[in-house]
Amino acid sequence: MSSYLVTGAAGFIGSHLSAELQRRGDQVRGVDAFTDYYARSLKYENLAWAQSLGRLEFFEADLASVPLESLLEGVDGVFHLAAQPGVRPSWGNEFEIYLRDNLLASQRVFGAAAASHLRVVYASSSSIYGDAERYPTREELPPRPISPYGITKLGCEHLARSFACARRLDAVGLRYFTVFGARQRPDMAFTRLARAAVHGEPFELLGDGEQSRDFTYVGDAVAATIAAMEWGRSGVNYNVGGGAETTVNRVIELIEELSGNTIAIRRRARAAGDVRRTASDTSRIRREVGWSPQTSIRDGLVEQLEWTRSLTPQVLTQITVYA
Ligand code: NAD
Ligand code: UGA
Repeated sequence: MSSYLVTGAAGFIGSHLSAELQRRGDQVRGVDAFTDYYARSLKYENLAWAQSLGRLEFFEADLASVPLESLLEGVDGVFHLAAQPGVRPSWGNEFEIYLRDNLLASQRVFGAAAASHLRVVYASSSSIYGDAERYPTREELPPRPISPYGITKLGCEHLARSFACARRLDAVGLRYFTVFGARQRPDMAFTRLARAAVHGEPFELLGDGEQSRDFTYVGDAVAATIAAMEWGRSGVNYNVGGGAETTVNRVIELIEELSGNTIAIRRRARAAGDVRRTASDTSRIRREVGWSPQTSIRDGLVEQLEWTRSLTPQVLTQITVYA
């Protein structure tokens, strides 16, 4: 049995990670600030679900300001997932939040982990590639983010490397590719599409729908994250991608087929910062960590649709789908 700190434990991926660690028999210390990027009530739900497994002690704290030493005391490693996510809202005044919750918070977590000689596995993002030079994209291709969000995630990778050089930080970066499944954030496409199919709300399609993503099932992303703590090479960044690049138009067809309902589409302009394609080359993580994706988009979507159907009207009213 090991003991881990999970930052962002009340979030989408962090709550799944916290649950899976407990299922393995590990002890989890979770931390989250319940930032208002989306409804706090959803984060409380995520946390309550993860806490029901019985081995999660939780602290509400802002990583950008609180002393971190005591949070790290007694753990065997740190999973750092806390961040301000979301590509499209990262323009304008909001950028200050991205600077704080991504760069400043990570700088503090990396510094504290280095001082405590703890390994950090942290969430990076496919958005660091921007519109990549080649597909499928390998980790060594030059990063060229095209959104302010992507720039902060790339900044975190550079911070990790600096701390590794100057303070011997043992860090492993995971470039997650668009993660989906139950509890997915309300601003993301699958959550909105599932709601549109199940509850008859319209879906705003940004662009022509021919943009594609290497969508990754959350259970697979979590398995990669846990394996990276054990087997990841220090200082290395790994792609974590589902392996089946799919267009948004194709996802719409699939959700219509699985739900038996037609989705009302409202066409909108392509969003600034939205990349045209993502496709991961996962040979590095397969070779070095022994991880490969196991769940197809279809199977993951069946589960996400079931979760959407299980949401009570009370919860649904708390989710603002479009502002
Ligand atoms: P999420 O918003 O659901 O979870 C992030 C959590 O971090 C939130 O609960 C938030 O309250 C918390 N947080 C933010 N700032 C904090 C701070 N200063 N102190 C403490 N807690 C703070 O997001 P997610 O989709 O679960 O993403 C998790 C991580 O994975 C993020 O780092 C994100 O950038 C990265 N990522 C996500 C995806 C995806 O498809 N969801 C893809 C690539 C990378
Ligand atoms: C996702 C996450 O939101 C980011 O946190 C993460 O860093 C990124 O993946 C990544 O892989 O790096 P994104 O790919 O934009 O970002 O995921 P979705 O929000 O699910 O969007 C997928 C596609 O659907 C995008 O092209 C988007 O423009 C489109 N979309 C989304 C719509 O057409 N309408 C919507 O209402 C929402």
